[in-house]
Amino acid sequence: MVTFHVHEQSLIKNRITGYVVENMSDHKNHKLFIGGRWVDSASGETFSSDNPAKPRQILGVFQKGCKEDVDQAVEAAEKAFPDWSGTPAPRRGLVLLKAAQSLRKNKERLAREMTMEMGKVIQESRGDVQEAIDVTEYMAGEGRRLFGFTTPSELRKKLCFTMRMPVGICGLITPWNFPLAIPAQKIMAALICGNTVVFKPSSDTPLCATRLVEVLKKAGLPGGVLNMVTGSGEDVGMTIVKHEKVGAISFTGHKDTGAAILRVAGLKKVGLEMGGKNAIIVMDDADLDLAVNGVIWGGYGTTGQRCTAASRIVVHEKIKSKFEKMLVSRIRRLKLGDGLKPRTDVGPLINVAAQEKSAKYVEIGKKEGAKLLIGGESPKMEGFFFEPTLFTDCTIDMRIAQEEIFGPVVSLISAKSLYEAIEVTNSVEYGLSSAIYTRDVNKACEAIMRIKAGLTYINSSTVGAEVHLPFGGVKHTGTGTREGGIEGIEEFSETKTVYVDYSGQLQRAQIDMH
Ligand code: UN1
Repeated sequence: MVTFHVHEQSLIKNRITGYVVENMSDHKNHKLFIGGRWVDSASGETFSSDNPAKPRQILGVFQKGCKEDVDQAVEAAEKAFPDWSGTPAPRRGLVLLKAAQSLRKNKERLAREMTMEMGKVIQESRGDVQEAIDVTEYMAGEGRRLFGFTTPSELRKKLCFTMRMPVGICGLITPWNFPLAIPAQKIMAALICGNTVVFKPSSDTPLCATRLVEVLKKAGLPGGVLNMVTGSGEDVGMTIVKHEKVGAISFTGHKDTGAAILRVAGLKKVGLEMGGKNAIIVMDDADLDLAVNGVIWGGYGTTGQRCTAASRIVVHEKIKSKFEKMLVSRIRRLKLGDGLKPRTDVGPLINVAAQEKSAKYVEIGKKEGAKLLIGGESPKMEGFFFEPTLFTDCTIDMRIAQEEIFGPVVSLISAKSLYEAIEVTNSVEYGLSSAIYTRDVNKACEAIMRIKAGLTYINSSTVGAEVHLPFGGVKHTGTGTREGGIEGIEEFSETKTVYVDYSGQLQRAQIDMH
């Protein structure tokens, strides 16, 4: 991302990367979306979105939103709320269904743009668009459910039940690693519950975000129901978080940002989905070929840039050296490159800062005494690439075994038993995803019961959550909310408890029955 004033033209040197980028005026100037209209920011400033595989290539120019824009977006959301929340939920679902159809129709174009904007390989981008389609369809169907429950009263002639009510205006702040799936997960859940939305996408993927908004507009979403303000976390994100008219905040991203959000959100409903330091346990009875596939996919898929990435491998000591050899030989064959090329296995990191972060952790790992088995460098090629990296002989006190790197750097730790492996797995501050490879059902069940994480996979990697099941973590991964599935609508709704007394008399609960 580079910031420009509108009058700046011609070749511009990216301050961070040093790359000379293309002429700004050649690129489409995208707008904010407020009250159903595409508008310029009051700031008069813009920024670019560029391709991490080819940092000279600009994909578009976007508005650098400011407080004034957020105020207008909130005002538009407030105006649209009575009508949208009063629209029957099944009718709200129809708008979502249309949006899902349009996402499906444009899947390939959206996937290609996504790979260009954030680097992941094209099959994974297709998966991301598919996840957005799936969650949109799922939430459309939720329009005919939004179940509460009924339960008997302790008194005669009295009904008791619960209902789902919208919260009001939801501020949604999303990351770049799933540029359609995560915004769709939050937006569709918020909309089906009858909320209106102010959406602040990551500044690394504003083009994907703009496409999602275009799709919803075309599907017939009334003006003001969804508003998008692009721009920085400081100017736009935090203004939304602080805004007194915003009722709920949902954020996915870095732990430090999440903590900052919690500090300023006041008494709002806050859902935070933050980091992970997820482990795959490989037992001595495991199908090792299967486990290697799981580690490669979980550790190096999306170039390690998932909060569910498998950044630790806990291997039974009996199979440690065999498993290391198997892994290294597979890692050696992984092909780095532009994600649009069909033979690429691993795309670039999102930006130069991410590249520097991975390099920094490699140095830390070496100093801590971990053994570097493969990788550890940025290859000499254009783009923000980093080699798939594997450390072994790691211990739980090492920073590379504790801190989220968000890059292709995996730490292998050995364990003498299942219980030690579980202890290692639980030795981090996070608790999002986890996995175990074993053929022993008893060991698998022990893992399910003892691992402290929101997700546990058996004989499968730490990634690949499905949209109709709850997604979220324990400990410092989040605030305990879940996205996806039925629980995914709890974040964006309030429970109303209703008592209907049709006895025609004053009946006093807890008093008249006893
Ligand atoms: C994230 O990286 O923020 O199951 C979440 C998975 C993804 C989750 C991504 N759908 O790995």
